[in-house]
Amino acid sequence: MTKELSILILPGDGIGPEIMAQARRVIDWMGENRGLNFTLHEDSVGGAAYDKYGKPLSDEALALAKSVDAVMLGAVGGPKWDGVDYDKRPEAGLLTLRKELELFANLRPAICFEALVEASSLKPELVSGLDIMIVRELTGGVYFGEPRGIETLPNGDRRGVNTQVYTTPEIHRIAHIAFDLAGKRDGRVTSSEKANVMESGLLWREEVTKVAADYPEVALDHMLADSCAMQLVRAPKQFDVIVTDNLFGDLLSDVAAMLTGSLGMLPSASIGVMGGGAMYEPVHGSAPDIAGQGIANPIATILSLAMALRYTFDLGDEAQLIEDAVQDVLGQGMRTADIMQPGKTKVSTSVMGDCILQAMEKLQR
Ligand code: IPM
Ligand code: MG
Repeated sequence: MTKELSILILPGDGIGPEIMAQARRVIDWMGENRGLNFTLHEDSVGGAAYDKYGKPLSDEALALAKSVDAVMLGAVGGPKWDGVDYDKRPEAGLLTLRKELELFANLRPAICFEALVEASSLKPELVSGLDIMIVRELTGGVYFGEPRGIETLPNGDRRGVNTQVYTTPEIHRIAHIAFDLAGKRDGRVTSSEKANVMESGLLWREEVTKVAADYPEVALDHMLADSCAMQLVRAPKQFDVIVTDNLFGDLLSDVAAMLTGSLGMLPSASIGVMGGGAMYEPVHGSAPDIAGQGIANPIATILSLAMALRYTFDLGDEAQLIEDAVQDVLGQGMRTADIMQPGKTKVSTSVMGDCILQAMEKLQR
């Protein structure tokens, strides 16, 4: 019997179940056609878990997430849970997974597929060939800093507080990930913060600079986060790897995603300590406005599966097959609504899944 590869599937909310169903078909295909022995578990996360268990991640689901090789997550959140307390909101389920699994590094590649060059809101020549890796710190910063909360002051005014905080080990470990990746890519790291106004940003800048000394073959530059956002839309191809904190990484990765034509295209990998688990999820959210209509783009989730095969299971050929199949299908002119262009064929979520499976059949020979 071949080695067991365990995956926990957490479809989540909104379009999560629809897009995950397509990724699941790709997993099944891999099992049948490539002799891989997947064991799949499935549970709820986010609003779906809140509705079932009264909290956005059950203890059982968390224990399962810790026990498997990889977690595949769809998306969480939606207006239905807007009134729920922060600690029970759908998003808290995702944040708990990141924190409890110690997934401190979030890799968000922004690659512009040639077939989608025209779909970008930027001029084709600015995005053609684009290949950026955003390395976002994922378990620190303002997302988790204490104190936090909303309080009522003696005079009746209200005060909201969140804390941006980083320690040297947190900065060092994410910087190492960025430099290691850059060493295997174009050898350039841009570190982004707001050192001009924030002490935590200044510390970030100083500590990243110290880590850079271990990587003489990698070039480091620093860019203020606002300027980085501007440069991303002005001349995105100047970047190779961008390393940044949790909040700026959230913002900059959405910007980078849109350069590639659609948020529906971008996968991500969240990794942590050696030998620990990993989680793979699309960069986009739960898109409640189009949920249940069968029109969502499953490509980001399917490409997240490719990242899981590459990074967790060391199945580079299988990952490449998926990526090539996506390329092929886009080349054939198949488009979900979000990337639809004149003269192309508009397909549903499941037909996009069909097309990708067919392309895998074709290309594996
Ligand atoms: C992301 C999302 C999450 C984040 C939300 C859903 C909590 O925007 O993964 O980028 O802010 O990290
Ligand atoms: Mg985000």
